[in-house]
Amino acid sequence: MSVIVWWLVTVLLVAVHSASARVVELEWEVEYKFWWPDCKEGIVMAINGQFPGPTIDAVAGDIVIIHLTNKLSTEGVVIHWHGIRQRGTPWADGAAGVTQCPINPGETFTYSFTVDKPGTHFYHGHYGMQRSAGLYGMMIVRSPKEKLRYDGEFNLLLSDWWHQSTHSQELALSSSPMRWIGEPQSLLINGRGQFNCSQAAYLSNEGKRQCTFRRNDQCAPETLRVRPNKVYRLRIASTTALASLNLAVEGHKLEVVEADGNYVKPFTVDDIDIYSGETYSVLLRTHSFPTKKHFISVGVRGRKPNTTQALTVLSYVDAPESARPTLPPPVTPRWDDYNRSKSFSNKFFAAKGYPPPPKKSDEQLYLLNTQNLIDGHTKWAINNVSLSVSATPYIGSIRYGLNSLSYLKSPAKELVGSYDITKPPVNPSTTKSSGIYKFPMGIVVDVILQNANVLKGKISEIHPWHLHGHDFWVLGYGDGKFRPGVDEKKYNLKNPPLRNTVALYPFGWTALRYVTDNPGVWFFHCHIEPHLHMGMGVVFAEGVDRIAKMDIPDEALGCGLTRKWLMNRGRN
Ligand code: C2O
Ligand code: CU
Repeated sequence: MSVIVWWLVTVLLVAVHSASARVVELEWEVEYKFWWPDCKEGIVMAINGQFPGPTIDAVAGDIVIIHLTNKLSTEGVVIHWHGIRQRGTPWADGAAGVTQCPINPGETFTYSFTVDKPGTHFYHGHYGMQRSAGLYGMMIVRSPKEKLRYDGEFNLLLSDWWHQSTHSQELALSSSPMRWIGEPQSLLINGRGQFNCSQAAYLSNEGKRQCTFRRNDQCAPETLRVRPNKVYRLRIASTTALASLNLAVEGHKLEVVEADGNYVKPFTVDDIDIYSGETYSVLLRTHSFPTKKHFISVGVRGRKPNTTQALTVLSYVDAPESARPTLPPPVTPRWDDYNRSKSFSNKFFAAKGYPPPPKKSDEQLYLLNTQNLIDGHTKWAINNVSLSVSATPYIGSIRYGLNSLSYLKSPAKELVGSYDITKPPVNPSTTKSSGIYKFPMGIVVDVILQNANVLKGKISEIHPWHLHGHDFWVLGYGDGKFRPGVDEKKYNLKNPPLRNTVALYPFGWTALRYVTDNPGVWFFHCHIEPHLHMGMGVVFAEGVDRIAKMDIPDEALGCGLTRKWLMNRGRN
C-alpha cells in the first residue's frame, strides 16, 4: 500500500475512533543498499529501499504487525522496538539470542505487539552491529488525548556514521589486541550528514569547503520549515553507536516535555544532551516575526570529539530558498564538562499525575561495570562476567525447560565494596557467560550501576544503560563509589522521572527502581554498540514460571536447542 493510502486509512480510522484496537500492518524488506549518508558512498541496511527506515506512526492502543522479510543474502536479522514494553508479547521484543532466533535470509518473521502508551520511540537492528550499519527508524505513538499543545512537529533521528564497514568493525573489536573503531566520520540527522564539507563554511574562517548539494542528494540536510509565533514539537531520538550528543537551535530555547515516552515536568534550556537510546520531545516557540534561517547543531560530548557538528536548518516561511543562516551554529559545550552533563540529568522530574515509586525495594542488584581481558581480547564485564549470548534464545530455553540456564546471583555489596573503582583492575581477567539474573513476579527491584576505571590510564567512560520491557524510575546519580545505607537516603522517591535509558557517568553510580510486572526475558545493556558487542550487558528473566506457560510462535525459536525440541515434538 502506498504511503498516501496508508495515511488516509490512518486518518479515517482515527476519525472513526478506536473503541476496538486499530491494526497498523506493514510489510518490510531489509536489504543492503549503496547510499550516500554523508556525501560519500557507503553501504546501509535499508528497509523497503529507504534509509533510515520508514517512520511508524501509531496511536496508543494500536496493534502493530510487521511482516519482516530478510533480503540479506548471508546474514540473519532482527528488529527491536526500543521503548515498547511488549506486555504479553516478550517474544516480539526483537533481541537476537534473547527473545528470538535471527531471521534467516529469505525468511519472513511477523512481529505483533500492542503499543500500549504514547511516546517518542524508535526501532533498530539488535543482532551483531546491525544498528551501526543503519538499520533504524522512528516510531511515534500518539496519544488519543494529547495534553501538550503545539502547532506542528518534526522528527530528528540522530546517529553516527563510519566509513569502515560494521563487519570490519566487529572483527577489529574482537581481535587480539583489540583495534578500536575510533570516532565516527560523521553525525547524521535523519540519516543525512556532510563528511567533506561544512554547511556553515561561508560564516567561518575554518577553511572548510562549503557544501553544495544537488537536488535529491541523499546527504542534503532536511530543512525544518516553521511559521512565526507558533509552537513546534521536536521529537528527538538518538540511535548512535557510540557518540553522546548535544543539540541546540540557534536563537531558540527548548522546553523539555517528554523523555523516553514519559512526560516530564517541563523545563527550558538552551541545548539538550542526548545519549544513545534516549528520546526527548522539546517544544520550540518560534519568534513573533519571521527571522530567516537558523542553524540546528548536533555535536559530540563525553568523548574527545573528532567529528564535525551535524547541521540542519530551521527556516521561517518567507525566507528565500537561497538564503543562508546569518549567525553561526551554536557551539557544542565542552566534551568533558561532566558537571554540566550531570546538572542537565538532574533537571528531570516526573510530570504531575505520575504516582511516586514504591517506597522500598525487595531486592538490590549491584552491577559493577569494568573493562577486562579474556586471552588478550578486550571485553566489558558486569560483576566480572562478560556477556556472551547463547545460541539458544533464552526465552526458548525457559519456555521448554531445555538447557538449565545458570542464573547469576547479585554479588550484593561485597564485590563492589572491595573493588577500587579509581584504578585499573588488579586482576583484569574475566569470564564469559549467559549473564542472566532471575526475578520473581511482583517485586520491586533496585539496580545500582557502578562505574569504574578502564584497563589502562585514569579513565572511566559514559555508559547509557537501556532496559527492555520496562520503564524505570531514576532515583539518583552520584560520584565515586555507592555507599550502601548512606546514598539511598538521597534517592528521589517523590517524583523521579520514568525512563528506559539512563546515563552512568565516569567514576560514578546511578540507581534505578522498577517493578517486575512483565513476564519475559529482558535485555539490560549499555546502548553503545561496540560496548555491547564486547559483553556489556545482562539479561533479566522475569516470572520464569509464567514464561514456561506462554504462547511463543515456533517461528521465533527455530535455532539452537529449541529447533531440535520443536522438530522432535513434530515427530511425536
Ligand atoms: Cu535500543 Cu537493546 O536496545
Ligand atoms: Cu558502555
